[in-house]
Amino acid sequence: MTSWCKAALAALTLMLGLAAAGMPARAADTTSAGAPAGTHQLNTGADADVWRAIRQGVQGTSSLPNPRAGVLIQSEGESWRALRNGPIATYGAWALAGILVVLVLFFLFRGRIRLDAPATGRTVQRFNALERGTHWLTAGSFIVLALTGLNVLYGRWVLLPVIGPEAFAALTGWGKLAHNYLGFAFMAGVLVTFLLWVRHNIPERADLTWFAQAGGLFSKNVHPEAKKFNAGQKVIFWATVLGGAGLGFTGLALLFPFSFGGLQDMQLYQMIHAVIALAMAVIIIGHIYIGSVGMEGAFDAMGSGQVEEEWAREHHALWLAEVKGERIDPRPHGHHAPAE
Ligand code: HEM
Repeated sequence: MTSWCKAALAALTLMLGLAAAGMPARAADTTSAGAPAGTHQLNTGADADVWRAIRQGVQGTSSLPNPRAGVLIQSEGESWRALRNGPIATYGAWALAGILVVLVLFFLFRGRIRLDAPATGRTVQRFNALERGTHWLTAGSFIVLALTGLNVLYGRWVLLPVIGPEAFAALTGWGKLAHNYLGFAFMAGVLVTFLLWVRHNIPERADLTWFAQAGGLFSKNVHPEAKKFNAGQKVIFWATVLGGAGLGFTGLALLFPFSFGGLQDMQLYQMIHAVIALAMAVIIIGHIYIGSVGMEGAFDAMGSGQVEEEWAREHHALWLAEVKGERIDPRPHGHHAPAE
């Protein structure tokens, strides 16, 4: 520390001491007999009070332009740091590793979920261009946000030792820029996702049956009927919309510091942001698996927008019937008759 810094610190310390409640006349007490007039010499008893006040975040005055510079030590910062680098980072890492293990095991035991009956060769339109465009805007931005965000939380342990400080600094600098700007693309994507699909994602009785049968994911020839979205997809939808809203709000609060509260509020926003982001990353990894390698025919829905009719019959029977204008036979595992 330079002598200038030391002097500034001592002056601020004294001013903080003066500002601390119940200590208005401390200046006189703490100037010991032999000291030249106007200088401050710390004595142990008063020191303890001054430092206690500083530890409690008592704000002094500072000649710096930033009014918040009067706080020397913000003790809550230590709790925040311990929570962020401790349980949040640790449980987050376990959860991410956990979902990967679960998916590998699921793949080993169940393999790729294939069609139970032969393909018909006919396709049906599942998502239009707006729906697919919105999905890929949301998905693309989320994936970059997730990777750059994970780098902020874990990069120094995972990437830094591998790529070295220079590459890590450059990558993290660019990553931060990408994270700050892509947040807006993600928020726009989530908003349009909500508007386009909310009416298909209202929970209903059939969702309970879907859950009771675990969506038929674990057994061949089990296909609980579903409309446009099944219960599992409704979970993904609401996780995206509610998680996205939470990430959006806390993200904006961090992007525009002190607009939504003080420093302690921002520490809270940071932790909420991290917890939601980690939970969403875990859920979305599961979603990406089932929407790509995990299930035959699923990707087409978001690729070309056209799905095989047999796929639609097995996974979204009620929706297919609706699209084809068929009436549903109430017998279990539905037989669909053309509408009269
Ligand atoms: C490479 C990454 C991804 C792939 C391959 C993928 C694939 C898919 C597919 C195929 C569907 C349609 C399923 C159907 O027809 O029933 C879908 C739907 C959806 N996706 Fe993605 N997706 C990806 C990333 C994401 C991300 C990052 C998010 C959100 C942050 C997301 C949110 C959704 C939502 C809300 C739906 C509608 C509900 C559902 O089908 O689960 N997707 N995705």
